[in-house]
Amino acid sequence: MAVIGKIAVIGGGSTYTPELVDGFIVHRDEVQVEEIALHDIDLERLEVVGGLVERMVRHAGLSTRVTRTTERAVALQGAAFVISQIRVGGMAARIRDEKIPLAHGVVGQETTGPGGTLKAWRTIPVVLDIARDVEQRAPDAWFINFTNPSGIITETLLKHTPLKAVGLCNNPINFTRFIAGLFGVPDEAVFLEWVGLNHVNWIRRVYVQGRDVSADLMARVREGLPFYPFDADLVEALGVFPTWYLQYYYYPDRKVGEIREAGKTRGEVVMKGEQDLLRKYADPSLVVKPPELSQRGGALYSEAAVRLILSLVLDRQDVQIVDVRNNGAIPDLPADGVVEVPCVIGAHGVTPLQMGPLPETVRPLCQTVKAWETWTVEAGVTGSRRAALLAMVTNPLVRSVDLARTLLKEMLEANREHLPQFFPEDADERG
Ligand code: G6P
Repeated sequence: MAVIGKIAVIGGGSTYTPELVDGFIVHRDEVQVEEIALHDIDLERLEVVGGLVERMVRHAGLSTRVTRTTERAVALQGAAFVISQIRVGGMAARIRDEKIPLAHGVVGQETTGPGGTLKAWRTIPVVLDIARDVEQRAPDAWFINFTNPSGIITETLLKHTPLKAVGLCNNPINFTRFIAGLFGVPDEAVFLEWVGLNHVNWIRRVYVQGRDVSADLMARVREGLPFYPFDADLVEALGVFPTWYLQYYYYPDRKVGEIREAGKTRGEVVMKGEQDLLRKYADPSLVVKPPELSQRGGALYSEAAVRLILSLVLDRQDVQIVDVRNNGAIPDLPADGVVEVPCVIGAHGVTPLQMGPLPETVRPLCQTVKAWETWTVEAGVTGSRRAALLAMVTNPLVRSVDLARTLLKEMLEANREHLPQFFPEDADERG
């Protein structure tokens, strides 16, 4: 049994928080948490979400103390783990990230393309500020980053702070469960040779109970695999299995068409759903995670978080797919950049497995997206307009310099209040 003193959740007023806490309830025989400190800048949400979390914990009979605060330093003080799950600018900013590119015929998505770029730029100054507080209040803590775009934010932390940071995404665990379901085995029986970056990854080989089942999976793709959005001829040509987010790169026109046809962006759908969820959370008779939460894209992120924490604390030395500094794990990507690969997790920390070079069928796309990420981090930290333009033109979804300039101009202006690095002259107004 692992005993953890304090876990600080920055962005604790997120509607996702009950999902996270449910993970600690499910794994109660393996881990005991003395305090979960929820921090949020939105007091109203903090009260509603914190109230539900408190009831969930009591209902489950855990002795965990749930504290809520709008003072970050209080939440961070002495924490063993810091979980970051913030959304700078809220859903309104996500919707702008989606709609501005769409108006120009470009994919509008919260982590991919121009939308992901602006989300990173809004988030970087705030995350670096949080990091400074962590350095002071909890310098030995593990900083677990869920904040999107997760790979880019984790790279910022690893390049620009001394923190022990690791990035997480629920996609690897979702895909693992998808494969486990197809082959009728538990998650633990599945091993994926997962290579690439956060939201830009391919599975080179799929193993079930130690047996390479890639050919069987390919046969299923050829038959038409439900919920797998890639055409069999593409998968055959690549020789590896693309995962969900690569839809935006392989089928950008299709995706733009789909979003336009839906009449609403994902952010608009989620915003409405969040209001319904918060109303539900406020009901004092609710004492468990509501099932609707599993409909959200972040379903199972609790599993990813709890498994990672358990392996770090209990020195499990198991393999999990997380976002780490590359350090040569994929030699054709920058050594100091962040990659998403299987890693050994134990008391020593997080060590990426040496995955070898990328398959030549996916290398150009992966390297190009990595270059976009690198410029995005640089521009996000420094506010350099040159780096910003390079980020925008390097993104594979932006097809011309003129378009890049237009998007940059419109999107920087639309996000001005959240971009101190690009608009230092607004410092007085910002206060
Ligand atoms: C997936 C992604 C996450 C993202 C989420 C969005 O799980 O991996 O990075 O945050 O979807 O879900 P939503 O329900 O907000 O669209």
